[in-house]
Amino acid sequence: MKRVIFNQKGGVGKSTIVCNLAAISAERGLTTAVIDLDPQGNSSQYLMGEDWQQQETNVARYFEKTLGFKLAESDPADFCVETQFERLWIMPSSMELNDLQSKLEAKHKIYKLRDALDQLLDQVDCIYIDTPPAFNFYTLSALIAADRCLIPFDCDEFSRKALYQLMGNVAETREDHHPDLAIEGIIVNQYQPRSNLPRRMVQDLKDDGLPVFESTISSSVVVKESHEASSPLIHYRPTHKLSLEFEALYDEMNSQ
Ligand SMILES: Nc1ncnc2c1ncn2[C@@H]1O[C@H](COP(=O)(O)OP(=O)(O)OP(=O)(O)O)[C@@H](O)[C@H]1O
Ligand SMILES: [Mg+2]
Repeated sequence: MKRVIFNQKGGVGKSTIVCNLAAISAERGLTTAVIDLDPQGNSSQYLMGEDWQQQETNVARYFEKTLGFKLAESDPADFCVETQFERLWIMPSSMELNDLQSKLEAKHKIYKLRDALDQLLDQVDCIYIDTPPAFNFYTLSALIAADRCLIPFDCDEFSRKALYQLMGNVAETREDHHPDLAIEGIIVNQYQPRSNLPRRMVQDLKDDGLPVFESTISSSVVVKESHEASSPLIHYRPTHKLSLEFEALYDEMNSQ
């Protein structure tokens, strides 16, 4: 199973959700790979600490390879590293993705990530792809590569606007490249159930027929603390309310 976490709006919780769901998946016994397509490298830092910037093995190296002639000889698993967490791998990001983007676009390499991840599935059970806050070459590559799309939403008017634009982008991707891409669901993050506005916004999405997960993720400083500790919640604070919420979300996703 290949999942992409996508929202072109910044700061809605993409990297936090990718790393926490992937960590739960690994903890439950599945070999799991995170693919970090965001040059900011937040998922890489969350799972590897500061080391990620020194990492020679990364996703930019893979894309660079697609521009040459020897791609057939390379194994996508060679561009992944094992994290300190059992069964959890990452293909880390790199700032070089910024410089590579126009070259990859010019050479029409939009299907290369899909090919790599299909090959990687021989060695891992599931894949979570983190994307940058933009609808660009890397995001489109990820939407084409994935089976399912998860959309974080943070109950804000700007996010609501972004959501409808995003749905249009996904619909276009399905029409032009990948008719089987499924929208798995909208993940409500930083939810405050006692406030009127977030409750109403979530209800409006449901009334519009959008697939909103029942499990929601609250807002808590423990998220920032776990980022600082480079340790996903299931390892950092396994019994914390947020860890249990992420586990409930994981279970809901996998019961569908
Ligand atoms: N449930 C939460 N509770 C508290 N803070 C949160 C929560 N989820 C995310 N945050 C905070 O919101 C900020 C953005 O989170 P994150 O980096 O995961 O979002 P993103 O969508 O990946 O951002 P970007 O678009 O920049 O890649 C971070 O500072 C993070 O600590
Ligand atoms: Mg991010």
